[in-house]
Amino acid sequence: MPSSTALSWNITRVDTCDSTNTRLANSLRAGQAGPGDVLVATKQTAGRGRLGRFWVAPAGALTFSLAVPEPKDAGRVYQLNLVAGLALASTVATLGAKSVAVKWPNDVLINGKKVAGILSETVPEKHAAIIGIGLNLNSRRDDFPADLKPLLTTVRDEISKSSDEENVLKRFLDAFKRDFTAYQLAGLTAILPELRAKLAFRGARVRVTESPQEIYEGALIDIDAEGLLNVKTDDGRIHPIITGDVTPVEAR
Ligand code: BTN
Repeated sequence: MPSSTALSWNITRVDTCDSTNTRLANSLRAGQAGPGDVLVATKQTAGRGRLGRFWVAPAGALTFSLAVPEPKDAGRVYQLNLVAGLALASTVATLGAKSVAVKWPNDVLINGKKVAGILSETVPEKHAAIIGIGLNLNSRRDDFPADLKPLLTTVRDEISKSSDEENVLKRFLDAFKRDFTAYQLAGLTAILPELRAKLAFRGARVRVTESPQEIYEGALIDIDAEGLLNVKTDDGRIHPIITGDVTPVEAR
């Protein structure tokens, strides 16, 4: 059976940086950080999201990155989004938020609205991975640009109070360590039942845009043991999808 590496957390806080993912990856490359290091920033000037998008967060967000050993198959770094997503969804639920779900491939939702995004990247030369998390914790929905407001929410707006950031980070790191250790030992299978139970839009009709040329519409069946999204199109075929944007669609 493969072994796991026990993680012990070493938290560093900075007021401002470009992107906690970028800075932590550079520290790893320079030999100044390693697995277990966590970098928290009050403000990012160039926060990054999936597919080269910007990550914009008004004051009150909890933005941080953690370094972990890379998955046994380094090509499966995308699975870390799901491991972290599960731990984050559990953490947010312990704060009192209702209807918390993991939206494949890298978001956490409350009541169908995005409350957090996750960006996992490898640092291959160090056999490490960086998991970056932006959680709308104590921010307010009203502080977001008007076009984003309908799509997102914040923990504070959902539970009508603010949360202690340090405590939330600690809860997340505890939950993540538990899930990541299980994942290291047995792969995604170890956390699959819990992940499936929290999967957003499971059983619903969705449109998944993998690329402008590859758009699938059908029933969201599940996440499989590799972390691929299985969507059943109307011709009865099941498509395992590695990444994409999922939107729910009205049933016909
Ligand atoms: C997404 O929704 O596409 C993922 C967003 C990830 C944002 C976090 S904030 C902390 C870390 N640093 C970054 O530059 N990005 C991640």
